[in-house]
Amino acid sequence: MKRLLKTTTSVLAVLAISLNVLAAGSGVALDPANTDINDQKSLQNGANLFMNYCSGCHSIELMRYNRIGKDLGISDADVEKNLMFNGEKIGDTVTSSMSEEGAVKWFGTTPPDLSLVARSKGVDWIYTYLHGFYKDDSRPFGVNNKILVNASMPDVLWELKQNKSTEDFDQDVRDITNFLDYVGEPAKLVRVDLGYKVMGFLFILFILSYLLKKEYWKDVKYGKWRAKD
Ligand code: HEC
Repeated sequence: MKRLLKTTTSVLAVLAISLNVLAAGSGVALDPANTDINDQKSLQNGANLFMNYCSGCHSIELMRYNRIGKDLGISDADVEKNLMFNGEKIGDTVTSSMSEEGAVKWFGTTPPDLSLVARSKGVDWIYTYLHGFYKDDSRPFGVNNKILVNASMPDVLWELKQNKSTEDFDQDVRDITNFLDYVGEPAKLVRVDLGYKVMGFLFILFILSYLLKKEYWKDVKYGKWRAKD
């Protein structure tokens, strides 16, 4: 039995290590994003930053403006005022304002839709990517990226970075990442919330069942109860 346990643990350890290596891919360690999908303030700030700094190039076509408002506790009027800039309607999906031909001309590629990027790459990857731009004069925009080598995206947050303290900038990047995590699975908000409720319910049920069990077994233990023959 002991032997079996030992083998199982080593197999699991090897598996975990190889999975880690696979996940890292580019060989650069990812910084933990530490996002919290239940932090509504963070999601609101992330949505705001996304619309201002990213939606010019990237769409999130699986998402509608009014759904964002509803999930993030922003009124329709505020969504229209702060998150929509191109005369869209509140029920529209979030498209980018860039034409495909323009994108190919400027970047050599179209900026990908970011609806599912948190699912495909993970939050740590996005967080590290947005932090990962460094100066490289051989590139068209004068920057390169440490995890997406030769990325054709400019360092769109450089101005924000210069105007903020490191902590505030990190928080902004975390908020954008958090927003993209929410976008990747909007039902996560409901699911996580429901999860807590179910766990709470099970906990209360456990206490009640335990008390009931004690009550029943009391009689058995003290011999008050006898089976009818
Ligand atoms: C000026 C246009 C532009 C803006 C603004 C922009 N991006 Fe990009 N982004 C691109 C392009 C082009 C690519 C493709 C890079 C490549 O594949 O080389 C890209 C790639 C990405 C990727 C990688 C996606 C993948 O699956 O490989 C992520 C994540 C991303 N952008 C996030 C953002 C976020 C978050 C913002 C806002 C803070 C933003 N981008 C703003 C042009 C832009």
